[in-house]
This record gives sequence, structure tokens and C-alpha cells, in this order.
Amino acid sequence: MSKVFCGLAVSVDGYITGRDPGAGRGLGDASMLFDWYFDGDTPSQVFDSFKLSAPSARVFDAAAGRVGAILAGRNTYEDSEHFGGGSPHPTAPLVVLSHRPVPGMSDRQTLVTTGIEDAVAAARRIAGGKDVGLMGGGVVTEALKAGLVDELILHQVPILLGGGRSFFQELPGHVRLRLVEAVPAPGVTHLHYEVER
Ligand SMILES: NC(=O)c1ccc[n+]([C@@H]2O[C@H](COP(=O)([O-])OP(=O)(O)OC[C@H]3O[C@@H](n4cnc5c(N)ncnc54)[C@H](OP(=O)(O)O)[C@@H]3O)[C@@H](O)[C@H]2O)c1
Repeated sequence: MSKVFCGLAVSVDGYITGRDPGAGRGLGDASMLFDWYFDGDTPSQVFDSFKLSAPSARVFDAAAGRVGAILAGRNTYEDSEHFGGGSPHPTAPLVVLSHRPVPGMSDRQTLVTTGIEDAVAAARRIAGGKDVGLMGGGVVTEALKAGLVDELILHQVPILLGGGRSFFQELPGHVRLRLVEAVPAPGVTHLHYEVER
């Protein structure tokens, strides 16, 4: 069975954006969360424009290469200017989760409005045996609540942003994790966890 996981860039105080993210403003005042994509000499084998440090390239490409579909929350979709009608991933199509209609989606994008279980199921179908990558703190939290997340990868950037959108929102109880790998790299530490069931 394909896995459901997320790999998000996050500050040490747990934010995946800075203050005031949005369309045309990217991550708000936290663009440095993505600096490690471009601060090395090793080209990504998955994302053409990325040049990472060697340890980051290994971790990033291993995760990105597993993805057959992306499931993003409505906020991620809006704040990323609809991904230009495509997907944030070069080969994996995009599924968007919302409670309401999302005008202007392209025929290369799939909208699900009937909840996280249906959205993950749709993404799995599209992924065709590959894994599903989650994007957005709200979607990750909803998928955790539903017991649908297998792995979490935190690309932890050494900064305290002091505000922004949180990686994790409130959960009804504890979720135990098992550390699979911790990789220090220039400008970022990659923390790969499995969700214990
Ligand atoms: N640092 C990184 O690596 C990284 C990666 C990805 C995204 N981001 C950023 O993170 C921000 C977005 O994160 P976020 O936590 O604010 O939002 P999000 O998870 O992208 O989207 C949340 C929205 O998804 C919809 N949704 C969530 N659960 C649902 C459910 N069970 N059923 C139906 N719809 C559901 C709702 O949309 P409706 O309100 O329309 O119903 C909700 O408001 C963006 O600014 C994005 O750029 C950062």
C-alpha cells in the first residue's frame, strides 16, 4: 500500500510560513525556510532548478522521488497562486482539499470537498502505487486526526520565526513518533519520523 507522508520546511518554533503569507507574498517574511533548496552544488534529480548541499539533496530527492500525487489544503493552493494551474511537483498531479467550491481549477487539478478520507483516497488513486505527499499544516493535522499519516519529515531550519502558520494544529491526543533518520546539513536539519500506530 502506498504511504502518506509530508516533508515541510519548518522553523525551530514550528512555523511553516512567516507572518502574512499569501498569493504574491509567498511564505510572508519567512522565505529563508526555502534557502536550503538553492544553497549547494548538488542538482536535484527531481526538481530541475534546485541545487542543494549533498546531504540535503540525498534526503530531498529520496522523498520527492516517492511522490505520485500531492494533496494540498486550500490555503496552500491559494497562497501559491494555484500552482499556475499545475502542481508543485514536476510529475505528481495535485489534489486540493476544501469544504467549498474552488473556482478556476484547471483540468490537471482535482478538487475534493468531502473530507480528508476521500481526499487521501483520491490522491492514492492518482498516485498509482506511488506515495502521497501532503502540503499544508491544516491538511497534515486533519490526516493525522484520521490516522492516515505514515511518516513526517521536518526540514528544520535554525530560526525562531515568532509567528506564522503552524505545522501542527490541535490534535485530540498524543501521536507517538519513531525517529527514522536525523541528517544535519548546511542551513537545515532533516528529521524523518514514522508515525506509530
Ligand atoms: N514550509 C513549507 O514547506 C510549506 C509547505 C506547504 C505549504 N506551506 C504554506 O503553508 C500555508 C498553508 O498552510 P495552512 O495550514 O494554513 O493550510 P492548508 O492545510 O494548506 O489548508 C487548510 C484548508 O484546507 C481545507 N481543509 C483542511 N481540512 C479539511 C477537511 N477535513 N475537509 C475539507 N477541507 C479541509 C480548508 O479549506 P476551506 O477553508 O476552503 O474549506 C482549510 O482552510 C501556505 O501559506 C503555504 O504556502 C509551507
